Amino acid sequence: MKEHLYSRVTRELMELVSIEQFSVNGVLKDDRLLVSGFTEGKVNVYVYDGGSLVKLNRGLIYAVAEASRDASRVVIARDVEFGREQSQIIILDPERPGFEQPIEDMKPLRILGIAYDDKLIVYSGSTMTEIALYVIDDEGVVKKITSYPRMAFVTDYKGDIAAGIGMFSGLRGRMDVFATYLDTGETIFYSPPDGSAETVRIMGDGKLLYAVERKRDSILMKLDLSSLEPEPVDFRHEDLKEFSPVGFNYLGFTKDGRILAVARKEGRSRIFVDGRLIEAPHGFYSSVYDWKDGFVASYSSVRTPPIVLFLDGKGGYKPLISGKVPEWLYNVIGDTNLVYVESYDGERVPVFYTISERAGKPGPTIVLVHGGPFSEDMDVWSTMAASLLAAGFNIVRPNYRGSTGYGNEWRLKIIGDPCGGELEDITSAARWAIDNGIASEIYVMGYSYGGYMTLCSLAKKPGLYKAGVAGASVVDWEEMYELSDSVFKNFIDMLFGGKRGLMKERSPITYAQYIRDPLAIIHSSNDTRTPLKPVLKMMQKLSERGFGFEAHIIPNMGHYISTADDVVKILLPAVLFLLRIRGEEK
Ligand code: 4NP
Repeated sequence: MKEHLYSRVTRELMELVSIEQFSVNGVLKDDRLLVSGFTEGKVNVYVYDGGSLVKLNRGLIYAVAEASRDASRVVIARDVEFGREQSQIIILDPERPGFEQPIEDMKPLRILGIAYDDKLIVYSGSTMTEIALYVIDDEGVVKKITSYPRMAFVTDYKGDIAAGIGMFSGLRGRMDVFATYLDTGETIFYSPPDGSAETVRIMGDGKLLYAVERKRDSILMKLDLSSLEPEPVDFRHEDLKEFSPVGFNYLGFTKDGRILAVARKEGRSRIFVDGRLIEAPHGFYSSVYDWKDGFVASYSSVRTPPIVLFLDGKGGYKPLISGKVPEWLYNVIGDTNLVYVESYDGERVPVFYTISERAGKPGPTIVLVHGGPFSEDMDVWSTMAASLLAAGFNIVRPNYRGSTGYGNEWRLKIIGDPCGGELEDITSAARWAIDNGIASEIYVMGYSYGGYMTLCSLAKKPGLYKAGVAGASVVDWEEMYELSDSVFKNFIDMLFGGKRGLMKERSPITYAQYIRDPLAIIHSSNDTRTPLKPVLKMMQKLSERGFGFEAHIIPNMGHYISTADDVVKILLPAVLFLLRIRGEEK
């Protein structure tokens, strides 16, 4: 008997969420790799010496701090509030697998960045009332060093300095470089002229190394903290310059102090050592370290779930730590291409599309809208994308104005205009897919800012989409602002460019009466980024009007999707809804 479509889709989703994923999070003092894995349906951390993986944690993990060669211990953060993203820091010991030492002295909070060695753990975090920098000493005592005026993400720490990126000079959507002296609490910041800092590292000579996103490209700079004089980084090799990146995924150093960089452009990233390109497969790299007689890097692509690759530096490579990928996956996920689609005002929108071999051309197609909005679609693994492709939908993913990866001219266009120009970009991508033989019928779906865009699309472009799936959506900016902690209040202020008066007009709850196409709402009850409360109010408004919609409220879970169970709770109802609307047996 032929397997029912719903049962095949469910089975394959279970297979997809069971694929083991691995990435490398640094090298420890003893030269072992710190590896994080998505295994047993959750995030786990391991040490790896080239032989076998040794698991260190017992409980769930929210974030893994990057290991350094100055550290023999491992530091993780755990959400202790059922998805509310209130984390406690826990120290793990590579010599005692399974032993967890929680920092009892610490008040759980939203962690914005952690850096550590064997002496101190430094972190920045946000509460309802402030954003601050803290240190944990070797006896587990927590001390607040200073508070910051706006969002601040610690990305490195060395000696008595913590450094990172933050919004010090105003709400322009641009990030500044900062350094805080841990002994005095004094903070120095530097605003790259016409640019936005991406990530900061402290170099051996005490200078700060950072990437700057400029109008249409990104460059690496060095900053002397005493003179605050920036200078460009000059490499012996020209490859990085020739690549002309528009973003950096990662910055670090080799054992002998050379700069390791993962740079990206148009959704693909490349690895450079001292400016020289290290040949590696096309796709996405999130980190790279020199290890033994080569390099280890965290790799994935639309077709390849995350693995750790070993690169010999001469063009050779092999998977070092990887899971098993089911055969059918390769037959289902067709090619991914990038096109530029003209929007309403003549701007060219980068759009990635991937063909499902089960949908064909033209076939049922989903416009899958990324979150952020400061984020981007790339040639990177996404379980959500893979499950939709497996269910027989092509996917079209617009890097609408506001997306990263195309320079700050494009990224900053969204400021002061949410549910404005970027919605037109998404609409243009949908029309392009219909007009160019990709889509026989079209749906819209997204999570978080992507969920917001889904609701905006259904309300403002009625009849364009056959249906929409809105996950973890922004529904009411005003109420959400009141419910937000310091960092998200800050983010909303920045996104609206100070135009508070626009918040009501740009909120889906305000125009809920215009939604008439089939809609599925999926929302977690403990979401602290896009809270449930306004979503319930919008559902009431919709239902008072007699509009039938589907809704899935998920208990004990927040915005961040951390386990295989969580993925299923979000994706299974979404996919089954879409299949019902598509209404055919395949
Ligand atoms: P996400 O969505 O970044 O896509 O998860 C958002 C969540 C919160 C806010 C904006 C976008 N906010 O402004 O609070």
